[in-house]
Amino acid sequence: MAFEPKEFIENAISELKKLDGTAIMAVSGGVDSTVCAVLASQAFGSRLKAVFVDTGLLRKGEADQVRKIFKELGIKVIVVDGAKEFFNGLKGIVHPEEKRKKIGGLFVKVFEREAKELNAKFLIQGTIAPDWIESGSGIRDTIKTHHNVGGLPKQMGLTVVEPLRELYKDEVREVAKELDIPKDPAWRQPFPGPGLAVRIIGQITPEKTSLCREANAIVSDELFKAFELGEMDLPWQYFAVLLETKTTGVQGDMRAYGFTIAIRAVEASDAMTAQYFKIPHTVLHRISLRITNELKQINRVVYDITNKPPSTIEWE
Ligand code: XMP
Repeated sequence: MAFEPKEFIENAISELKKLDGTAIMAVSGGVDSTVCAVLASQAFGSRLKAVFVDTGLLRKGEADQVRKIFKELGIKVIVVDGAKEFFNGLKGIVHPEEKRKKIGGLFVKVFEREAKELNAKFLIQGTIAPDWIESGSGIRDTIKTHHNVGGLPKQMGLTVVEPLRELYKDEVREVAKELDIPKDPAWRQPFPGPGLAVRIIGQITPEKTSLCREANAIVSDELFKAFELGEMDLPWQYFAVLLETKTTGVQGDMRAYGFTIAIRAVEASDAMTAQYFKIPHTVLHRISLRITNELKQINRVVYDITNKPPSTIEWE
């Protein structure tokens, strides 16, 4: 039977309405949590607290963009400024898995605080079918500890509610359309839960994060411009990685010793496998020029030409 988004929405809201008490949920601006927040807000009204955590590891302008999206949707979102707490917590951590676990733990801490303040009874999550199917079959999770807020709060003593649990991504998008959710969150490219932390090799510092954020913005901006000029299609996912390796360069007449940025762009359908995307050389050239001109601490730009497997999409 074909999926009926209208029917799904009516049923989901009426099920949520049966729940008595206050609810908390994490929003990221992505399609799953946005759809989930709209359904929950229609059922819970002022008994819902939607929380967005600014970890300091987000993309350029992301917190403002999320504020704007939810304002347009008429949903009140509490933005928690967690940058200090996250940078302090990540100090000295180098190993990718340790970073991921630390970030997961910090998310839980922030949520525990917010839930306590609200005296929340329910935790609403935008988990969709592939999230738990993949966790069950284990391939992804044995490679990397994935952190969405999902799966983490078992120890929080809240009843977990997952209205989208049986849906696949295309169905979530149909629901998003039916709910008049603007195309932006519904079609935004994937962004990992741990944010830029997994795109910065080695120790995370506010300075390195800021370089990585700017480089990511340049890659996005140039690819989007090239797409609009008809020079290329947009890859499924594209970003910049700040490497720990410093190399020798020249700036003016002086020897320089700067960071390296790797450009990553892939084609994928479910992210379990991916092919590296062949960005035209003219576009790569423009990205490289902009990165090295605008970010003086970077004197080398390289292009990642590996598929998944053997690599993964993110570098950490
Ligand atoms: P990998 O690097 O495992 O990434 O090939 C596959 C896809 O998942 C995204 N990714 C994550 N998404 N939480 C997420 O919600 C995470 O911890 C996480 N790690 C990677 C990645 O951006 C790619 O689209």
